[in-house]
Amino acid sequence: MTSAKVGLALLGLGRIGQVHLDIILSSQRANLLWVVEENTALAESVMKGRDLLGKLRIVSNDKFDNILLDPLVQGVYICTPTDTHTALVRKALAAGKAVFCEKPLSEELADIKACYDDAEKYGAKLFCAFNRHFDHGIRSMYEKVRSGGLGKLYMVKTTFHDTPLWMGAPTFSQTFLIHDVDLLCWFADALPDTVVVQATTNIKEVADKSDVDTVGVLMRFPCGMLGILDFCKYSPYGYDVRLEVSGSKGMEVTDAKPISYVKSYAPNGRFAEDIHASFPERFNQSYTSEQEHFLDVIQGKAELEVKRIFSERAAIVIDAIKESYRTGQVISLKK
Ligand SMILES: NC(=O)c1ccc[n+]([C@@H]2O[C@H](COP(=O)([O-])OP(=O)(O)OC[C@H]3O[C@@H](n4cnc5c(N)ncnc54)[C@H](O)[C@@H]3O)[C@@H](O)[C@H]2O)c1
Repeated sequence: MTSAKVGLALLGLGRIGQVHLDIILSSQRANLLWVVEENTALAESVMKGRDLLGKLRIVSNDKFDNILLDPLVQGVYICTPTDTHTALVRKALAAGKAVFCEKPLSEELADIKACYDDAEKYGAKLFCAFNRHFDHGIRSMYEKVRSGGLGKLYMVKTTFHDTPLWMGAPTFSQTFLIHDVDLLCWFADALPDTVVVQATTNIKEVADKSDVDTVGVLMRFPCGMLGILDFCKYSPYGYDVRLEVSGSKGMEVTDAKPISYVKSYAPNGRFAEDIHASFPERFNQSYTSEQEHFLDVIQGKAELEVKRIFSERAAIVIDAIKESYRTGQVISLKK
């Protein structure tokens, strides 16, 4: 166990990479040694906006191998697009570095297994960033369920209405659905027995890509719990993530978490409350808490809480969702 600052490298300065950049820089426990970004113009503008030009070592992605030779680098953050994750994760693990990889590790179950096999082979830590496990509200509901506070679980509903419209992945992908699928499996502590989906397209930009944007998934779990996943690729009213859990002893629900708890009543009878603009605002606390956990793991102060089974389970269920959409059938995952 050590309490010195943890040496880190960060790959990718896009939407989520910038969130992690700011959290790492504000941490007293982390020392950001290298930043890797293939888009040099973006890297420059991100650094300029933070008054960090010339103060951090920013390199292009062909220098990644050199960074892995740096003995001061203990942990590598991978915040690049999903299709780059597996190769980067496996390289970093082979170099003995602890890896923090944005979700998902891959769109393919076989790649996810290969990453975890490598983590075991090289004795290196692999943390897949299921940040919602670290959201205070969601976590307290989970703990209440585990301690029996809600009794026998009847129903868990997740709502994810995203904004802004992001076309970086098809709707039926882990990149979009993994958080909600993972939460349902995490609460049930199992794979579902059955999965069925219905989906429609309501947004022109999505129709132009022959994708769907409005999705409902129903899952039945072995414990008797039903899981309902409600997803919209674009929400016109703000970033809307909610979770509702009901059981034999009651019900708990998170709301869309207003920015301000001041309730505003207008003369025309309208009631207005601002909700968050997007994920960096809504989940900032969880991103900070997951980083604390990752640093604890590197320093030997905690065991990894995000297990291999979480990624594998989500991949299996999302493949079943795709199959249900393709065939129009209820998919059985029962062995
Ligand atoms: N946990 C969350 O809440 C959350 C939120 C958003 C995105 N994500 C995940 O994060 C990942 C990135 O998503 P994003 O929206 O930030 O993408 P993005 O496209 O905004 O950013 C990716 C960045 O990586 C850079 N890049 C690409 N290949 C690189 C390489 N080999 N080395 C260094 N830089 C490279 C790109 O130039 C780009 O700037 C995705 O897997 C996504 O699923 C997670």
